[in-house]
Amino acid sequence: MAALQPVPSARAAQARAHGLAAAWVMLLSLVLGWLAVARPAPLSAQSMGIAWAWSGAITPESAVIVARLANGVADARLVIAPDRAGGESDALTVPATGYQKADANGLVRFEAGRLSPATRYRYRVETRAGQRLDGRLRTWFDGPFSFRIAFASCATTGSNSRVFDAIRELTPDLFVHMGDFHYLNIARNDARAFRRAYDRVLDSPRQSALYRAVPIVYQYDDHDFGANNADGTSPSRPAATSVYRDHVPHYPLQPGAETIQQAFGIGRARVIVTDTRTARAPVDSPQPRTMLGDAQRRWLEAELTRAKDAPLVIWVNTVPWITKANESTSEGWAPYAEERERLATLIESLGLTRRLIMLSGDGHMAALDDGRNSAYMEGRTKDSRGFVVVHGAPLDRWTRVKGGPYSHGVSRRNHQFGLLDVADTGTALEVTASARDAYGQLVPGLELKLRCDKDGCQPR
Ligand SMILES: [Fe+2]
Repeated sequence: MAALQPVPSARAAQARAHGLAAAWVMLLSLVLGWLAVARPAPLSAQSMGIAWAWSGAITPESAVIVARLANGVADARLVIAPDRAGGESDALTVPATGYQKADANGLVRFEAGRLSPATRYRYRVETRAGQRLDGRLRTWFDGPFSFRIAFASCATTGSNSRVFDAIRELTPDLFVHMGDFHYLNIARNDARAFRRAYDRVLDSPRQSALYRAVPIVYQYDDHDFGANNADGTSPSRPAATSVYRDHVPHYPLQPGAETIQQAFGIGRARVIVTDTRTARAPVDSPQPRTMLGDAQRRWLEAELTRAKDAPLVIWVNTVPWITKANESTSEGWAPYAEERERLATLIESLGLTRRLIMLSGDGHMAALDDGRNSAYMEGRTKDSRGFVVVHGAPLDRWTRVKGGPYSHGVSRRNHQFGLLDVADTGTALEVTASARDAYGQLVPGLELKLRCDKDGCQPR
């Protein structure tokens, strides 16, 4: 009978202990689960302390790197060293005095000076806890210098398309993003929404890898400035312009201006980047109607005049210049035809028409015109020649053709970009402009080879 009595045994004690442990494990996992929900989502895989970093504003001796630190990380520093074996010995630390404090939004802006010209560098943003993000850049040279620029526009918000790898694998010195960096269409004055938009794009693994490997020049267009076809009356204007200033490594902007146009030299070429949104008058406003705003147009005229002796001028203009096929359209420069004619006339009078290449986006297509269709100067005839226009888009978006016609045709496919190779022989610049596909391959037919010097560019 005694065997029927519940007698505590070693096995029963063990089972109780297991039950207790299981309850603790369950409680612990519930607490951890709650913590995971209550805390912000983890940042990119590269580092839990640094959300993203990118570089820009490259000159022969300086660069700017902007990084966003994770919540709770107060400061970081930049370490930059020539990208060669044993290069760590001459590493620079920015700031030299220690760590730089992040602003209220976690942003740190490092200005690296005292760099050597035409030199490849590796940089590292690092926190006190040893978390780090690495990047690469090459400084320019003020004189004969060969370089490669990739350019494109239009990617679905946070896209992780293979096209970003294709651009990075071609190792350009610069990536010019010509707008529609996202499609959030923020039409209100909401700085937080714009900051979140930058985080969403820069958190994409392939875009993050590209922006850390290649310095950027970024100019917004409509969908990343405001709503579709946004102009200077968009309520989002103050937020879009101020968040741009904080988040993007950009060249110096005009003091007191809200527009974000920029200009810089690379080798013997001059690059001018115009802002076609911030000061744009609505398409139904009375003539004379401006896309650039009077102040920016005067700035552009001064920049073109300043560049008149350069063997090559690259004008980054986000929207279609050529709209001959349908001049009554509201697309591109058509509604701003008077301003377009004024600029084309100045370019012609400076002798720049044959030394200028326009890089453009907005139309979800790649296209190339050798000047046959781009002439808009005063007194033009059907035989007048304009400058070369190259469209490189879309990075990742449905396709659509805008403007035209284009002498070398149009490629209406997704995952495309443009490439501009400039080889400086010392006497001339050998320029190759082309459109590329998702694998970096040439889009058949969309290639133009030129030899440019002070007398102009000739086919080669
Ligand atoms: Fe677009």
